Amino acid sequence: MDVYTAANLANWNDRAELHATDTTGSYRIDKVLAGGSSLHELETREIGDVSGKHIVHLQCHIGLDTLSLKHLGAASVTGLDFSSKALAAARDFAARAGTKARFVEASIYDAPRALGETYDMAFVTWGAINWLDDIRAWARAVAGVLKPGGRLYLLDGHPQMLQYEARNGRLELEYGWRTPMAEPLHWDDAQTYTGDERPVKNGLHYEWIHPIGDVVNALITAGMSIDFLNEHEIVVWRAFPDLVEAGEDQFVLPAGMPRIPMSFSIGATRKGP
Ligand SMILES: C[S@@+](CC[C@H](N)C(=O)[O-])C[C@H]1O[C@@H](n2cnc3c(N)ncnc32)[C@H](O)[C@@H]1O
Repeated sequence: MDVYTAANLANWNDRAELHATDTTGSYRIDKVLAGGSSLHELETREIGDVSGKHIVHLQCHIGLDTLSLKHLGAASVTGLDFSSKALAAARDFAARAGTKARFVEASIYDAPRALGETYDMAFVTWGAINWLDDIRAWARAVAGVLKPGGRLYLLDGHPQMLQYEARNGRLELEYGWRTPMAEPLHWDDAQTYTGDERPVKNGLHYEWIHPIGDVVNALITAGMSIDFLNEHEIVVWRAFPDLVEAGEDQFVLPAGMPRIPMSFSIGATRKGP
């Protein structure tokens, strides 16, 4: 395992333990344990009816969205993540909710082999591709876990938003639009992003900004056709301190600040056979 992945894994194992015992409400644990859904209004609307679908949730973290997809009517749900701590929490939540789900520990790049089956839908949301150095390999993995005609739903932070840092009430352009694979951005955060004040022991982590053109072209090259590409003014975490709430767990830039896209979503279909 390379140094960047090893650092990210240590970081995610720490965060998973904090998020699994979250008391900030960020993860909607009680709602999912009661048979409800942790999905936001945006992704619930964009994925449409999931009834009867066999769904894989890639980078599933502590499995709450995975279980939610089953609660929304999926025929089966499988979550994949590289963090053993996240998956231990996911399995515990599944047992407590009484929801059948399969959880597989693997690198995203190894997903087709590790899963050993293909799906009607791959669900990938909120804070996924920024952790990955190789967007082309990611797209091949996505295509590899889908049946012909199977669909990807991707919803993530917009790369334009990721280029900025907030300082003195303004957004300042800080990072380049395309992070080179061998020169990741890095941060060493003492706490996680939920507002939880408990410390993260392994705070160092590495991230990559992928332009939307690279994501789209990687999917096309991997054998996917693009069904839609949407850009949104909302994001579901407080990406900048001055963001204001606009709906449940949704944030937008404050009035008077020029708007930039804060998130984007892509629907894509695996061409067959
Ligand atoms: C922000 S979380 C995703 C949250 C997700 N939307 C959810 O349902 O909670 C990012 C996840 O990506 C996982 N991850 C990061 N790099 C990975 C990799 N190379 N392979 C597999 N999982 C990875 C982390 O363990 C973490 O659980």
